Amino acid sequence: MLLDNHLAVITGAASARGIGSATARLMMQHGARVAILDTDQDALDSTCESLGDGAHGYRCDVTDWTATRACFQRIAQDLGPPDTLVNNAGITQPKGLLEIEEDDFDAVVGVNLKGTFFCTKAVLPYMQERGRGSVINMSSVSAERGGGIFGGPHYSAAKAGVLGLMRAVARNHAREGIRCNAVAPGFIETDITAGKLSAEQHQGIRESIPAGRTGSPEDVARICVFLASELSEYVTGEVVDVNGGMHID
Ligand SMILES: NC(=O)c1ccc[n+]([C@@H]2O[C@H](COP(=O)([O-])OP(=O)(O)OC[C@H]3O[C@@H](n4cnc5c(N)ncnc54)[C@H](O)[C@@H]3O)[C@@H](O)[C@H]2O)c1
Repeated sequence: MLLDNHLAVITGAASARGIGSATARLMMQHGARVAILDTDQDALDSTCESLGDGAHGYRCDVTDWTATRACFQRIAQDLGPPDTLVNNAGITQPKGLLEIEEDDFDAVVGVNLKGTFFCTKAVLPYMQERGRGSVINMSSVSAERGGGIFGGPHYSAAKAGVLGLMRAVARNHAREGIRCNAVAPGFIETDITAGKLSAEQHQGIRESIPAGRTGSPEDVARICVFLASELSEYVTGEVVDVNGGMHID
């Protein structure tokens, strides 16, 4: 299988209908074991139960460096060194620039960008020691076109930040066998988007997407499996858009 003997750490993967748990499930179907990190303990418990043997939950706030470093140490002790890190934890706020207070900015940039930086910093020594690893940063179409549907400017900025970070990690660590790429989803049906639009708004969005449908978490999960696996061995520093043609460069 594509991910035999593979350990993937996926952040923000407790949400039952989210991109992280769909990625964990598909990676497991391809042979991986997964460590899923989240702040929501109840969701972690139920998602691990539904994923079954091979899924391990760790409560961790990725914006807290001390806790994040300790969490990666625990994972290495319990399960061994990670082969893949998916920096998926994220939050958004549908606010305009003038409504964004300092706390809002810190919260959104904290989870999306600082959390990605902390997890990458925590996993890197394990990957360097073995001379291999794949880091996948979850960005957004919002980074590319200055706004998606829900994210404010602080979200666009944070998601653009993870692209810059991804390129730096790709460039600086390629010689060590470590690859880093990003995925930029468009409109994906998860709890981040659920129930926030009227039927008419939803239809308008569907009609504006060239593929004629919104995305599913599995659409994104398939790209993460590809970027984690040896199929993408020579791919680093790349952004993969998963948006049904909603944004074409
Ligand atoms: N759904 C979309 O349309 C869409 C589009 C583009 C990008 N994305 C990105 O994809 C990723 C996953 O989004 P989703 O739609 O599955 O959202 P989701 O809300 O279903 O999942 C996000 C998870 O992150 C966790 N989380 C939040 N703060 C955390 C923290 N500090 N530490 C650890 N975990 C934390 C939440 O508890 C939740 O389980 C996010 O980075 C999001 O910005 C989503």
